[in-house]
Amino acid sequence: MTTLRGNWNYPTLIRFGAGRIVELPDACKSLGIKSPLLVTDPGLAKLPMIDAALTACRQAGLRCEVFSDVQANPIEANITAGVAASKSGGHDGVIAFGGGSALDAGKAIALMVGQSRPLWDFEDREDWYTRVNVAGILPTIGVPTTSGTGSEVGRASVITDVRDHSKKIIFHPRMQPRLVIDDPELTLGLPAHITAAVGMDALSHNLEAYCAPFFHPMADGIALEGMRLIKEYLPRAVENGRDIEARAQMLIASSMGATAFQKGLGAMHSLSHPCSAHFNTHHGLTNAVVMPYVLSWNRTELEERFVRLASYLNLKVPSFDSVLKWVIELRKVIGIPNTLADIGVPVDAPAKLARQAFDDPSTSGNPRPMRTEDFAELYRDCISGKL
Ligand SMILES: [Fe+2]
Repeated sequence: MTTLRGNWNYPTLIRFGAGRIVELPDACKSLGIKSPLLVTDPGLAKLPMIDAALTACRQAGLRCEVFSDVQANPIEANITAGVAASKSGGHDGVIAFGGGSALDAGKAIALMVGQSRPLWDFEDREDWYTRVNVAGILPTIGVPTTSGTGSEVGRASVITDVRDHSKKIIFHPRMQPRLVIDDPELTLGLPAHITAAVGMDALSHNLEAYCAPFFHPMADGIALEGMRLIKEYLPRAVENGRDIEARAQMLIASSMGATAFQKGLGAMHSLSHPCSAHFNTHHGLTNAVVMPYVLSWNRTELEERFVRLASYLNLKVPSFDSVLKWVIELRKVIGIPNTLADIGVPVDAPAKLARQAFDDPSTSGNPRPMRTEDFAELYRDCISGKL
């Protein structure tokens, strides 16, 4: 077997390989960070891996503190508190360490430390990112502990706006971590149901990027291989969490998904964001539930592309139906529920959610143009299980 180790610089400098978290102090030093703020979530903060990282940094002479007041689906108050912690501790860099919530919070804190405008002024709309004081952004090191979000290589953070229960995308190209440590050993302890849900988030990134109707052959190539890795290794990682090869390949597939989705996302994410913002459903799980309904909805736009996808995935018949069938079977094998109703989205939700789904920035990447009433209909299908 090829050694699963390498140093990559596309698009971010990635130090990949089992056990490489020991290089965290060196990674800080390579970026000139002397006093990192380690941003994580309260659950992870209690685990030995955070203690070990903190101890290693301190032993290497770095003045490292932990900030863990970050909730699942982080809100503005988490970012404000993190910025205050960073300023009062005089930190000169951020280690964003954890799943999507911790990574997104860490990146947003690194952005906001040097800004005078409010967070929502940097939402991913038009050219709002040009409002950012670039010199004020702290360098960030990304350390993912789940294989799904890919936020470690992404240029944005998803933050919930509690005023209207919407998920907003905060964007600046320089929010991308300068360096990533991808260590699959950090993902070994993930329970099977979380492995399944975040793995399907990685699939939705690769799949929606591949489906987005824009010219971006590099993203398409990355997305194809990302999906092949997920087909081969996600069932293995769910079946046996200690399978380090499966964990390593899923971590790559996750980083590949977020790399590819610079091309665009689509209606899976548009539908998913309002569900999480209103009913606190898990992001990856929600994407997994809506996936086949969205594919069916987009069928006419995808038939040609999916012949190539089915061939690459080595499905018996190279067709749209083969891909759809594979997605449905994969969901079953790894224990994903079939409808949004199964994960707590009420039947009267579509009227409330459809407008927000339409307004989501992901909507522009959907291969079939969408209207608010289309989203309402799609929500009804996802809730009732009508494929
Ligand atoms: Fe996602």
